[in-house]
Amino acid sequence: MNSLFGGISDFFGLDIGTTAIRLVQLSGGSTTKTLVKYAYVPVDPKIAVSDSKIDQQKLAQTIEQLIKQAHLSTSNVAVGLPSNKVFSSIADVDRMSGHDLAKAIPFQADALIPTPLAESKIDWALIGDSPVDKTKQEVLITSVTNKYVEDRLDILESIGLNVIAFEPDNLALARALIGEEPQPELIIDIGHRSTDIVVVMGTVPHLMRSIPSGTDTIVKAAVQNLNIDEKQAEQFVFKFGMSQDKLEGQVAKAISGTIENIVSEIEKSINFFNTRYNGTKIETIIVTGGASTLPEFPIYLANKFGMNVAIGNAWRNVSFTQDRQNELLSVSYQFGVAAGLAERSI
Ligand SMILES: Nc1ncnc2c1ncn2[C@@H]1O[C@H](COP(=O)(O)OP(=O)(O)OP(=O)(O)O)[C@@H](O)[C@H]1O
Ligand SMILES: [Mg+2]
Repeated sequence: MNSLFGGISDFFGLDIGTTAIRLVQLSGGSTTKTLVKYAYVPVDPKIAVSDSKIDQQKLAQTIEQLIKQAHLSTSNVAVGLPSNKVFSSIADVDRMSGHDLAKAIPFQADALIPTPLAESKIDWALIGDSPVDKTKQEVLITSVTNKYVEDRLDILESIGLNVIAFEPDNLALARALIGEEPQPELIIDIGHRSTDIVVVMGTVPHLMRSIPSGTDTIVKAAVQNLNIDEKQAEQFVFKFGMSQDKLEGQVAKAISGTIENIVSEIEKSINFFNTRYNGTKIETIIVTGGASTLPEFPIYLANKFGMNVAIGNAWRNVSFTQDRQNELLSVSYQFGVAAGLAERSI
């Protein structure tokens, strides 16, 4: 996609999330870019995930309003693809030139992806030598259905936007939250209905997964186990989280089953990675989204896995004036994807 759009330098990143739509525009050099604008608007999750034409039109109007209010100087946009719509897999393929690889990938992908090749858009990136077979190299293959991409394109073009790239959310997150560290790091983004895991080593994503549980699942567990309404449950969950001291640990207890399910999936990913890349070990977890706002969840992870846990900073590669520090950090947990999209070198 890149070469087609060479020459475009002005664009913004757009994250159409389940609970909010966010945008980030940056300007300047290739290493540190400067914040031009960020903005967000809440969205009703029912509309955000709906396939119906009416809801998609509502979504388009909401995005249009957001863009108008932000007074953007460009209509070029890089858009995130939600991880639960993207299939991703690592394949070990024979060593060959880039040209031959480009021809071979569709055949490899056909056997890997869950949807028919003719109905899917495939993307791939060479990671490096395969850690399990010296004669092979490993490739990250991602796919999304043409239908999903076309529907998104329809929405965005209907409000006059020019889509210059689609990118899976978790690749954008990795770009925004991870630096040049050679050691592998694992990012956890707990979203509304799904949790994304991505392991990054040497700036390259090596493992991506999406688990179908998120803060909505956690809040619903509190509704059920504490016998309270959803509003109250949401307040309790984000106020007390996993604290054992608050409300005698009742909230923590109510959500512990759901948290354990998510944590056991994280554990599987850690084990898978450490086994495949024998000799390297994940020692740091970066939390973002609901994973960073749920009280005491980060410390729980640190104790559980004996690892360093850090709160992701969506603005780590972005420069801005000192007086905006507090304001920007307070929204950081929800801007990782949009910032990462805006940091693309197109
Ligand atoms: N302090 C808070 N109070 C109430 N809800 C919160 C708070 N912090 C996060 N949340 C909720 O946590 C969830 C995750 O937030 P996030 O912004 O990552 O979701 P999202 O990006 O819209 O979802 P997705 O990535 O699944 O599309 C949302 O449901 C959000 O409303
Ligand atoms: Mg999100």
